[in-house]
This record gives sequence, C-alpha cells and structure tokens, in this order.
Amino acid sequence: MAATRIAPLTERPAWGALRTHHAQIAAQHLRELFAVDPARGERFVAEAAGLYLDYSKHRITDDTVALLLRLAEESGLRERIDAMFGGEKINLTEDRAVLHIALRAPRDATIMGEGKNVVPEVHAVLDQMAAFAEGVRDGTWLGHTGKPIRAIVNIGIGGSDLGPVMAYEALRAYSRRDLLFRFVSNVDGTDFAEATRDLDPAETLFIISSKTFTTQETMTNAKSARDWTLGALRDEGAVARHFVAVSTNADAVAKFGIDTANMFGFWDWVGGRYSMDSAIGLSTMLAIGPGGFRAMLDGLRRMDEHFRTAPFARNLPVLMGLLTVWNTDFLGAETVAVLPYEQYLKRFPAYLQQLTMESNGKSVTLDGRTVDYATGPIFWGEPGTNGQHSFYQLIHQGTRLIPCDFIAFCQSLNPTAEAHDILLANVLAQAEALAFGKTPDEVRAEGTADWLVPHRTFEGNRPSSTILADRLTPELLGALIALYEHSVFTQGVIWQIGSFDQWGVELGKVLASRIIPELQAAAEPALGHDSSTNALIRRYRARRGAN
Ligand code: F6P
Repeated sequence: MAATRIAPLTERPAWGALRTHHAQIAAQHLRELFAVDPARGERFVAEAAGLYLDYSKHRITDDTVALLLRLAEESGLRERIDAMFGGEKINLTEDRAVLHIALRAPRDATIMGEGKNVVPEVHAVLDQMAAFAEGVRDGTWLGHTGKPIRAIVNIGIGGSDLGPVMAYEALRAYSRRDLLFRFVSNVDGTDFAEATRDLDPAETLFIISSKTFTTQETMTNAKSARDWTLGALRDEGAVARHFVAVSTNADAVAKFGIDTANMFGFWDWVGGRYSMDSAIGLSTMLAIGPGGFRAMLDGLRRMDEHFRTAPFARNLPVLMGLLTVWNTDFLGAETVAVLPYEQYLKRFPAYLQQLTMESNGKSVTLDGRTVDYATGPIFWGEPGTNGQHSFYQLIHQGTRLIPCDFIAFCQSLNPTAEAHDILLANVLAQAEALAFGKTPDEVRAEGTADWLVPHRTFEGNRPSSTILADRLTPELLGALIALYEHSVFTQGVIWQIGSFDQWGVELGKVLASRIIPELQAAAEPALGHDSSTNALIRRYRARRGAN
C-alpha cells in the first residue's frame, strides 16, 4: 500500500520546511497578517457543495498553505484518496476496504469492493428502506393490534446512535411531526425507561441498530424493549410487527427473534462512525422520507466528488484537514471547538466527537511505530450563542489555544423579526474578537482605569474557520458530514495512522465482561484486580441494595 512507501512524517522535506517556516512567522499576530495582506479574507476561502469556507483567520500565510499542500503531496494523499475510492483495503488492521463513499453513489456508478461492484447492493437496501419507510409513514405498516405506528425508537450506540440522533435533530424541520422519534443508547436503564415511559407499545416500532449485533449495551436495551413490548401485547408474534433490525449480522438478528425479512443490511466496509447514510439511517429516512434521505445522499456525494477531484489548493476537506495538522503539530493546539450557530445542529459536536476521535485518536503509525508528534485533537462544542455564556471566556482569555470551527447559515428555518441577524452578528463578532482581540491601548482609550486594563485586554490571535451556507437542508447536511469525514481522512493520511479501526475501545469491553459476573455472583467472589478495583467492587456489592 502507498502509505508504507512514504517517509516518516518528521522526515518528509515539507515537515522540516514547515518547522523553519513556523519559527519565522510564529511572532506575527493575525492583526499584522491582515494589515500586510488586506485581501486575505477574500483569498483564503474555498467553496463547494453549498459550503463556503473562510480560513483566513488562521495563523497562516501563502507560504504556510503552499508548504502544507506540499506536505499533502509528500504524504501520498492523492494516492490514498484514489485507494479509498478504488476500494482498496486501506483499513489495514481489520483487512477491510473503506467504502462509505459507495453509500451515496448514483445507481449507475461502479465502485469495486472485495472483487465486485457494491453499488447495486447499496441501492437494493435503499429501495428496501424506502418501501418500509413509506409503509410506516402512510400507515399501511400496522402494529400487532392493527394500530398504525406513532413512535419510532432507535436502539443503538456509537455510530449506530450518534449519526441517527444528530441527523434527526438537524433535519427536524423536514420531519413528520406526527411521528415521535426517540433514541436509546446508554445501558443505564434510565435511558430506556425515560424514552418509553409515555409510549404505547401497540403503536411503537423499535429499530435495533447494530453493525455487529453483539454490542452489550444495544443487546441489553433490545431485550428490555422486547420485554416491554411483550409485557403489554402478550404474544411473541408481536415482535415481527414492532421490531426491525439494521445490521451486518443476519444470524444474530434471527437468533434475537427478528424476522430477517425485516432486517436492513450493510457491509463490513462501512465503519460504524461512517454509517449514518447506510441503513443505520433508517430512522432518518422514516423522519424525513425517502426523498429527503436521497437529497442528503446527494449532498454527501457532491462533497465526495469535490474531495476526489478538486485541486488540493481549493479542496475544502483537504484544506480543513491540513489546518488541523498545522494547529495541532505546529501551534500546539490540543482541541478544536465546533460551534454551530444553528440550533438544529445541537448534536453535531457530539456526532463529530466519535467521527474525529475514534478515527484519529491513535498513537502508532500504520506500520506500527509510535508517533513522535501529536495526532487527533479533542473535538468538543455546543451551539452558539449558548456557548458564549459559558466556555467562550476561556477561549478568549484563557491560557490555551483553541481553534474554533464556526458553522452558520444565511437563512433561518424559523425566521423571526430579528433573531437571525442577531445570531449571525454574534458568530461574526466572535470570530473577529478571537482573531483581533483588543489591545491595552484600545482598552485604555475607552477610559478604563489602569489596574483594570490587563483584565479587559484581549490578546486575540486565536484561529478560527467560518463555514457559511445558505440554509440547513438535507443536502447541505450531507455535504457538511462528508466535509468532516474527508478532513479526518486527510489528517490520518498526514499522520500516517489508521483512521478506520478502533482497537482502543476493546480493553474496557473485555474487562467489563470479566467484572459483570463478579458483581452478580451470589457468594463473595475471589477478586484478582488491583486493590482499588477490588475495593470498589466490594463496596458496590455491599451497598447496591441499600436505601
Ligand atoms: O465504540 C466502538 C464501536 O465499535 C463503534 O465503532 C461503533 O459505532 C459502536 O461500537 C457500535 O457498534 P455496533 O453498531 O456494532 O453495535
């Protein structure tokens, strides 16, 4: 594979050149960068698939961009993009192709994966989903007692939850308001109880979403759902009308008691965190309809095509990925704040956390060497303007450098007299304040007492990207998701890490399976953990029944 022929990151010529360059420009404030280059706000921009990216408020010059683009070339990004789109097994540690791009390919496309064109299967599942979704939406799919479905509960976790919840919330304006949607993920019984407490089992449909159909949390919640349904409907036959499955594991689905005719499949070459547009998006399709879902796929596809074909210098995911590398490895940023100024995107930061951190939270390269540079930053965030009244203080005046991704729309889906102008004024003002700050002289000139000046000074020089689009639509959401997917891929290629496995989640799962019987044993078990874990287990066993 191409990556193995690539020199280690810190030995690539562009890396060394970036180090030297960084030392040369590190002292320059964004105020100076804008002063000497007043047009940079119109030049450091790129546009694709309805998204306008302004990256001029990063601590970069034309030379920085040129060197980052050279780094991309030297890192084999072009070859790696072609390898992904060509169905090569770029997920080396799991020996799998990475073909989420096939999920949104047009019907007549050919994308080879594991020796065959995967596109016909993708469309067969999309058609099956559409027929089912129409049936539920038009009331022809009836529950066991003959009532139409009014509530849909998706049970899944990680990629089988975060994408569906995020998309449902993001596209609520386009969803059927007479259908209720709930999402259960946590194995904490409270999640299931609260999601179902006001629902009627005769009108409720459960979607059990799990790629593997073995995930402990999902299987536990699925059993609770079956007990809840059968407790009320009192007939095993009810499972067929109230449960469908989304999975790659037909045997486990059948064993659970769900008719595999009501199973929507996907494939090993779709990673969990890259699956929101596969059958895992069934709840999204039920909410917005097959037409809306296909529009979302169109948006994803437009960004895929842009990523695959646009020159790197104008390629949004490439530019965003490279800026993340720059901020992380040269400016020392440890996190990225994702700040959507759109209430419907309130779950977007949570969705991005899995996408980015499960993908690039790695510390060995594809060929097994421990990295000597920082990789995936921590992603976090909340919708604006709420964040402004909680954590923005630290972004403006704290000791850490926190690059921000601002996401905003020119048109509101709920226009009121002036709220949207105020919202947009805020997002623009925040990016401006972070970049330019306020000097002690400016503060003094306002008549501030000397002792107060340091407190009211804003250092500025804090980088941000602004993503501006016209309106949040299914298509636009698709483009936004693919933008981040491919930005994550770009970062992983530069860092030479495997962005598509997740071995780091395994150890905790294994240890939990060992501890469960120790918690459940009737007699005091012999405990072989460390003294801390042993003591916590004993205390839990002693006190769990206490009032
Ligand atoms: O957290 C680990 C993980 O494997 C994720 O990658 C995945 O999205 C999640 O668990 C759920 O897995 P499944 O869909 O197989 O239940």
